[in-house]
Amino acid sequence: MPPVSETSEYSVIAEGLRKRYGDKTAVDGLDLRVRRGTVCGLLGPNGAGKTTSVRMLSTLVRPDGGRAEVGGHDVVRRPDLVRRRIGLTGQHPAVDEILTARQNLRMFGRLFHLSHREARARAEELLAQFSLGEAADKQVRGFSGGMRRRLDLAASMILAPEVLFLDEPTTGLDPRGRREVWDAVRRLTATGTTVLLTTHYLDEADKLSDWICVVDRGRKVTEDTPAGLKRAVGGDRIEVVLADPADLPVTTTAVARVAGGRPPETDEAELRVHAPVTDGVAALTEVARTLQEAGAAVLDIGLRRPTLDEVFLRLTGDRPDEETDQEKQKENAA
Ligand SMILES: Nc1ncnc2c1ncn2[C@@H]1O[C@H](COP(=O)(O)OP(=O)(O)O)[C@@H](O)[C@H]1O
Ligand SMILES: [Mg+2]
Repeated sequence: MPPVSETSEYSVIAEGLRKRYGDKTAVDGLDLRVRRGTVCGLLGPNGAGKTTSVRMLSTLVRPDGGRAEVGGHDVVRRPDLVRRRIGLTGQHPAVDEILTARQNLRMFGRLFHLSHREARARAEELLAQFSLGEAADKQVRGFSGGMRRRLDLAASMILAPEVLFLDEPTTGLDPRGRREVWDAVRRLTATGTTVLLTTHYLDEADKLSDWICVVDRGRKVTEDTPAGLKRAVGGDRIEVVLADPADLPVTTTAVARVAGGRPPETDEAELRVHAPVTDGVAALTEVARTLQEAGAAVLDIGLRRPTLDEVFLRLTGDRPDEETDQEKQKENAA
């Protein structure tokens, strides 16, 4: 057991959490800590073990190994106490199509043993909090994807849980629906709710999370703040976009020179040349001067921070060889 101070500092603590299905290891020793009142993004590709992790933490699936505490209680020994402190929203909304938004929320209130009066009052609060006031008396079957998902979020907040698990809350939504759900999640954390959010959208983890845990093949690859993750992958990149393919050779040479001699990446379709640099401003100045002297037609030139997409590719896509070697050794040993 962690000391009491730690229990109050973290709403979610997982240590060596593990789950196998047959000979498939879905979650392979997950360590995770989510500070109270923050949003933690569990980011990983399909099959990484995100849903299985959430199901163990929300007491729906029993771990094969390790331990976890949610809201200060052990998920295996006191699932009853954990359940009272959590809300869970999955990919498939549980709201009733025939009922209106207001009726749905009142019904959920009654399901959670609120009195008629309490259920009505809670429904009004949630309709306001999730901007569903105007649609309150419309049947859910006419709702857009984003509105539905917000109603689902509202339903999981009936009892104002301490910890809310959101499993891919915006999968399948259009850009507008995603933005609506993001706004709703932000408003939730303003009320002090701790959120553990799974996503395979990098921009979503980047925008919503205070802390990101990158998982792949049931294991944690790394964890950090969104800014820290981007820093870890390297500093600025210089990027040049050209108007004329004839200027590609001179640009490639100029960018390579400021990037320590390494050949830059070139996107020939977009006429874009980019490379990581250590002293961004000096590199920018030098490349701009060289291209001006060469008379190259430059559409855009600038410095940019790496995106989380690039971070993710670095961390999970092009795997370091040593990991592959480790896996081979394991296979040989087995
Ligand atoms: N009930 C199950 N039975 C068998 N295999 C499962 C089950 N649930 C998940 N898995 C497997 O475990 C791995 C992780 O799945 P999951 O946790 O759903 O990943 P994610 O949510 O990150 O996409 C996948 O390879 C999946 O096929
Ligand atoms: Mg999943």
